[in-house]
Amino acid sequence: MLETAIEFLRKGRVVAFPTETVFGLGASIWSEDAVQRIFTLKGRPQDNPLIAHVGCLDQVDLIAQELPQDFYRLAEVFFPGPLTILVTKKEGISVRVTAGLSTIGVRMPAHPIAKALCIGLGHPIVAPSANLSGRPSATRKEHVIADFGTELFVLDGECGIGLESTIVVLGPTPSVVRPGAITAEQIGEVLGRPVGYLIGNPDKPICPGMKYRHYAPQAEVVFVPSVSYVLPGERVIIPSQKTLYAELRQADADRIQRIYLLDTLEVRSNIALMNRIEKIVSKV
Ligand code: TXA
Ligand code: MG
Repeated sequence: MLETAIEFLRKGRVVAFPTETVFGLGASIWSEDAVQRIFTLKGRPQDNPLIAHVGCLDQVDLIAQELPQDFYRLAEVFFPGPLTILVTKKEGISVRVTAGLSTIGVRMPAHPIAKALCIGLGHPIVAPSANLSGRPSATRKEHVIADFGTELFVLDGECGIGLESTIVVLGPTPSVVRPGAITAEQIGEVLGRPVGYLIGNPDKPICPGMKYRHYAPQAEVVFVPSVSYVLPGERVIIPSQKTLYAELRQADADRIQRIYLLDTLEVRSNIALMNRIEKIVSKV
């Protein structure tokens, strides 16, 4: 299966694969057609750049330049793992990948299948989450098939974390621009200075993708501290990082019309989970 996937990527085809965060919909970074196909398959706006997944640091040198010391500090501690670092891109990378930006997001996945794919291909795989644009990310193979059908080649595996990677921007004031399993505090400890969350202006966030309504099921979703009764067609979900997306998808499959997401102290203390819940309940 792995060999077939590598062969497909080499031939300019798109394949889906598990990572430790969510499933990715991948293409060789050098295949212009496959990169475009990702946007078409997902219905993804062209102004939303893709993350490059690498198997080793040598692959970062193929696509990035002027890597600062902070990049290596973070890579040493958090790679491979659920962290994406924004760095200056090299000439020659398709504008489709970076949506015309001068930076590229680099992540070294820890999942053995994702890692083996990147190493086997020998150069980076660009991959957004393997879901139709606006739908909850896929954390199981059947979610990928539900969105894209059986024509797509999908490798199977488990996503242990269940939410997308933390994205960090470096420079004089390093900041987390998308919260994930690795916290700003952990990053700050490694860099030796405080690191905060910088989501930016909602109309012009630092991650272009954050301005789109994301992670949304078809049901109406409300975030409430308690629920006294549930009518037919309604469901209560206790949000957890690992299962949230799967539960939202299941609610749609069961034609649930209203979802009550329970607002608990534990949920509130998870910044990444809260960030996704805010997007899920937002109507824009
Ligand atoms: O965990 C993850 O990161 C997963 C797995 C598959 O690796 N990938 C993922 O990709 O979540 P995607 O495309 O669904 O989300 C990537 C986010 C988008 O909001 C995009 O705008 C932002 O990263 N992004 C990518 N490149 C960027 C760049 N150069 N500058 C700012 N934001 C960037
Ligand atoms: Mg996504």
